[in-house]
Amino acid sequence: MVEKQQDHIQQWVSELVDYKKQKILGGRNPMDTKKNRILDLISLDGQVAIVTGAASGIGLATAKLLAEMGVTIGLIDINESDGIDATEQIKESGGNAKFFLCDVTSDSECKKTVETIHKEFGKIDILFNNAGVIRRKNVLDLEEKDWDLIVDVNLKAIYLLSRHVIPIMIKGKGGSIINNGSGWGIKGGSNAVAYCAAKGGVVNMTRAMAIDHGKHGIRVNCVCPGDVDTPLLRGEAKQLGVDEETFMKEAAERPLNRVGDPQDIAYAVLYLASNLSSWVTGTTIIVDGGGLA
Ligand SMILES: NC(=O)c1ccc[n+]([C@@H]2O[C@H](COP(=O)([O-])OP(=O)(O)OC[C@H]3O[C@@H](n4cnc5c(N)ncnc54)[C@H](O)[C@@H]3O)[C@@H](O)[C@H]2O)c1
Repeated sequence: MVEKQQDHIQQWVSELVDYKKQKILGGRNPMDTKKNRILDLISLDGQVAIVTGAASGIGLATAKLLAEMGVTIGLIDINESDGIDATEQIKESGGNAKFFLCDVTSDSECKKTVETIHKEFGKIDILFNNAGVIRRKNVLDLEEKDWDLIVDVNLKAIYLLSRHVIPIMIKGKGGSIINNGSGWGIKGGSNAVAYCAAKGGVVNMTRAMAIDHGKHGIRVNCVCPGDVDTPLLRGEAKQLGVDEETFMKEAAERPLNRVGDPQDIAYAVLYLASNLSSWVTGTTIIVDGGGLA
């Protein structure tokens, strides 16, 4: 059933790509008006997005999907080789993308990168604050440097990037900022105290930013994933010293009976970036196969 739904969405994505190609080529459009209207609503042709943590997992899947929708992507990551590889993959599929090596915990790097992206692409319409790290430790086990790292990457980086991107969005008369939270931004989890604190901050910071910048036409929303199959999730098994296969099996125990695919989250980001969500701001979308239900 779930795979069927995913196939259905993938089919729509392919149809949109075909439709865009036909438009570009000026060919005859065989689709009916109703379908075209839906495709126009979801198309992001000509927009520019920054995706952080784009070298892997959810960031990579989202950068690829947005590029398919016609968005020029500035991929940001500290992992240079995977970031360049991701960018090449997007370009080979016909997308526009460029990689920027940037540590999102550094204000000077964020400032320089945003300025470069603005200069190269002329505007910034979408910011997906996605970079994240986790340490599976409680208050007694966690070292102060790890507290700082977790809070800086998952929470402070959103402030740093947004403070450089928002003035550009204001000049462009609006934009969409999507922050990546977590189910653990809504409820607590064991041995993840700094991560839970940071993600709780992301959820409420999203609301505060939405209130402040609605008047500028900037929408700010949060996506809260459940367990998604990425290097971050699999790395947790190692940190906890448990068998990876058992860990992943337990992570799949939820109403929809599987862990998430990075693309499941990318679809929610696409919705929040597109005109389909034009009156949605300050909200949190939980995408977790029913884990928090
Ligand atoms: N995978 C899950 O189960 C899950 C669940 C809930 C929330 N999330 C959130 O989703 C987001 C993406 O996680 P993922 O699972 O795709 O992880 P991932 O490890 O696959 O990707 C994270 C990316 O962030 C990059 N990154 C880390 N520190 C950075 C820094 N200082 N500057 C720039 N880039 C940096 C990494 O190099 C990596 O490419 C995170 O915010 C994470 O907390 C993930």
